[in-house]
Amino acid sequence: MIPSKLPNVGTTIFTTMSELAAQTGALNLSQGFPDFNGPQALLESVGRHVMAGHNQYAPMSGLAALRQQVALKVKRLYGATVDPDHEVTITPGATEAIFCAIQAVVRPGDEVIIFDPCYDSYAPSVALAGGRCVHLQLDPSDFAIDWQQFADALTPRTRLVVLNSPHNPSGALLSRKDLDQLAQLIANRDIYVLSDEVYEHLVYDDVQHACVLAHEQLYRRAFVVSSFGKTYHVTGWKTGYVIAPPALTTELRKVHQYVNFCGVTPLQYALADFMAEHPEHVDALPAFYQAKRDLCCGLLQDSRFRFTPTAGTYFQLVDYSHIRPDLDDVQMATWLTREHGVATIPISVFYQQAVPGQRLLRLCFAKREETLRQAAEKLCAI
Ligand SMILES: Cc1ncc(COP(=O)(O)O)c(C=O)c1O
Repeated sequence: MIPSKLPNVGTTIFTTMSELAAQTGALNLSQGFPDFNGPQALLESVGRHVMAGHNQYAPMSGLAALRQQVALKVKRLYGATVDPDHEVTITPGATEAIFCAIQAVVRPGDEVIIFDPCYDSYAPSVALAGGRCVHLQLDPSDFAIDWQQFADALTPRTRLVVLNSPHNPSGALLSRKDLDQLAQLIANRDIYVLSDEVYEHLVYDDVQHACVLAHEQLYRRAFVVSSFGKTYHVTGWKTGYVIAPPALTTELRKVHQYVNFCGVTPLQYALADFMAEHPEHVDALPAFYQAKRDLCCGLLQDSRFRFTPTAGTYFQLVDYSHIRPDLDDVQMATWLTREHGVATIPISVFYQQAVPGQRLLRLCFAKREETLRQAAEKLCAI
């Protein structure tokens, strides 16, 4: 037996549900990826760059043209001035950025505050750095942070706090007021912030995304992570970026250099071209996904599931307590897939300790209209 460094990690629910969906022929609303393609011009551009011979290692920090486009975007959207050479790093997916940021600042014995339910890569990354996760629960009714509970959890060992807004799985958003609260609570402490903003462009109902880059006090101690995969409907490209002040970027790059060294070259060229030629793509994303959210929620109106339309991300939580209160959410997700042909994700898997009696499933609505209609028909028949 090899003593595992990650004894609690097994096959993730995303793999399990996608496999079950494939086996049973169910519609897959479980894993978070679109069932439609990225923009044609972006896809064609990759082909051109591959044929032009852009197939060798990219610079360790990322292609300069892409870093510049990222800096221009955050200036235009958030009014944030960042130096593309010393503050922007292109990474193979947001997940690698998150891992490297955690390794860069967390030392053995350090505490990292994370808010459950949360994305599944945070805790293993902290464990591999020798840190200890302090799991705080978001309010089960609206997934807001309880700042008093956060204040009470701070200790001299707290080194990092991980934020995620828009939030997977709930779609909840942090407001500017939340960021002010956090800034105030950690002002005189040696604590860093890792802000996972991979769904930054998926914010609905005319609400503005509260980006940590736009919060001067917080940004001084922050890593802000995003994902081209989410923004350009190409999750399989696993290309993301992280923005951090120069001193933090230097430390992050020391890790990134030996985890992956660089991101995939032709993808970076294509993304740089596309961002320069189509800045309107990101501006159109809220309306694009809001239309899908509204379609999904409209179609489910006649079902027995209960829900509040999500504020952000491409996930919709639905409460099934009126349908099968006897099943916990893993059982319910399995039953729905096998018996009704729709795969979803039970949200208890995003918790260290599930909330007793919570009866919520996560649906992904980054799907073609026809997929959403077929899925809704099945769900409304229950
Ligand atoms: C909250 C959150 N962070 C990070 C990621 C990972 O992004 P990437 O695919 O770019 O690694 C995801 C993907 O599902 C996510 O939901």
